Amino acid sequence: MKMRRWAIALGVLLLGRKKRQPRFADRPRIVAPGAPDPRAEWVALLLLLCAAAAAVGFIVVYSFNHLAHQTQYLGLALGLAFAFVAAALIVVAKRLVVTEELEEDYPLSHPTTQEEVEQLVEESGDRLTRKRLLLTGAGAAAGAIGAALVVPALSLGPLLDTGGFYETPWRRGVRLVDEHGKPLLLDEIVRETFYTAYPQGADKELLGSPLVVVRFEPAQLHLPTQRRDWAPGGVVAYSKICTHAGCAVALFRKPTFPVVEPGPALICPCHYSTFDPTRAAKVIFGPAGRPLPQLPLAVDSGGVLRAAGNFSGPVGPAWSGVRSKAPRNPS
Ligand code: FES
Repeated sequence: MKMRRWAIALGVLLLGRKKRQPRFADRPRIVAPGAPDPRAEWVALLLLLCAAAAAVGFIVVYSFNHLAHQTQYLGLALGLAFAFVAAALIVVAKRLVVTEELEEDYPLSHPTTQEEVEQLVEESGDRLTRKRLLLTGAGAAAGAIGAALVVPALSLGPLLDTGGFYETPWRRGVRLVDEHGKPLLLDEIVRETFYTAYPQGADKELLGSPLVVVRFEPAQLHLPTQRRDWAPGGVVAYSKICTHAGCAVALFRKPTFPVVEPGPALICPCHYSTFDPTRAAKVIFGPAGRPLPQLPLAVDSGGVLRAAGNFSGPVGPAWSGVRSKAPRNPS
């Protein structure tokens, strides 16, 4: 019975219309007439507007990038929004809807049932004198809560401001350095050993900064024709950011029994995307949808490894449009 009262309250709130000639005026009333309660109407309206304000608060808090206790504030705002809606419905159900009690359930699917329910809704809303105002409040609350529920979907991926994703600190002549800032010398790169490198003088935290560097026998490499001179001395460099979801490619598979084992591979431990570093980091296993972008290398007169340009493709995880632009240097 409680559920029915709530449903009728909601129906009255949402479907109530401006005063018009009652459709069922010629029939005996089902619901006893009740006196209007303007104060309760204002309270219900206020609660609905509070719900809308709380939902807007959720969107505002969500729009901040870094805010202390942000998750708690988000939960509080959304919880308050629903609590205010619930309170408004309670006020409507208790104070504004005339209730009637039945001993027995309505017969299901009876042809007269629908009309009776319509009559019930109409008569239950007799006490409302500001239906339009309440409807506007309900619309504001529903719209704001709906927007609050949809807004987090924006976090699924970049949509408008994607320029930063194409910028990398690499350009022709930038030195490769290790995590302590020491330049990487070609002669010090040991074959089939995994190195992490960064652009000298740039922020290591940038998505486009970290590289994996591995050295092979030049004859082992099968790079595309236009990349033949990208690997001096057999040293190849790829973005360390996995093209699946952006984890760090942190493992190197070095075959120790070449006769029975598969070839060398760069591996992302998150979902085990596996790339063949001898074939331009082609994906050979796992969920990644494209190869790791390759950085062309050169060696200067002092034997230091330097970038010979920017990456072969956009750095980072897959997202819509990721293939549509080339990487660029910061302006
Ligand atoms: S993030 Fe690398 S495999 Fe998923």
